[in-house]
Amino acid sequence: MRKLVIAGNWKMYNTISQAQDLIGGLLKNGTDMRKVDVVVAPPFTALRAVYDATAQSTIQVAAQNLHWAESGAFTGEISAMMAKEAGCKWVIIGHSERRQLFGETDDQINKKTVAAMAAGLKPILCVGETLQEREAGRTFEVLFRQLEGGLLGVGSDAAAKITIAYEPVWAIGTGKTATHEQAQEAHAKIREKLSLMFGAQTADKMRILYGGSVKPSNALELLSCPDVDGALVGGASLKAQDFLDIIEAGVKAGKV
Ligand code: PGA
Repeated sequence: MRKLVIAGNWKMYNTISQAQDLIGGLLKNGTDMRKVDVVVAPPFTALRAVYDATAQSTIQVAAQNLHWAESGAFTGEISAMMAKEAGCKWVIIGHSERRQLFGETDDQINKKTVAAMAAGLKPILCVGETLQEREAGRTFEVLFRQLEGGLLGVGSDAAAKITIAYEPVWAIGTGKTATHEQAQEAHAKIREKLSLMFGAQTADKMRILYGGSVKPSNALELLSCPDVDGALVGGASLKAQDFLDIIEAGVKAGKV
């Protein structure tokens, strides 16, 4: 059985003090978070403060991005080891905003995934089609290309530790969620593809999260789909109560 992951992608929101307040809000009401992996991804500046604030809890910290080199003249970038030293166990890689706004390619995303694994960070590799691609009937072709490109050269043992996030671009920050049927269909196809790439046993271990306008009102339905192993939550992860409600939905859908 795959343990669900409920991850909050804070994007470029929350100063250090706002981040501390949000963590305070998450810890205040005593929700039992042990049955799911709860992960938050603050901006780089707040990573250490969030790590410190969550030290007595099971909340884990993720970076939102990294550079694949160990060090070097790459102004504005941080390495996997730097993220790890700041307290990260996870890293989000290839988010659609990175792909679309910052021109990240599958090749760069692949290098980041490999570097994260080498440093002992758990990658959350994001894939997803645009509305235009969906309407043109190209959804699975796009997802498969992103999976093949992002996971190039990764062996089966390593792949088992990687989490995939299916985030249809048209559902991110738009309030439009994929229906649970659409999510399940895409997740099943992704698992089929992973099975071809790494074997059925590995594919069965890999967690596939859904992301795109997940909120308390739709979380349980999405998380109850057999191939949906958690959620990558943007907007709703910025409000303590909403994120807690989504964690509760994960516990309820509980597949462990
Ligand atoms: P959203 O963002 O929940 O605000 O749609 C999801 C994401 O970008 O990971």
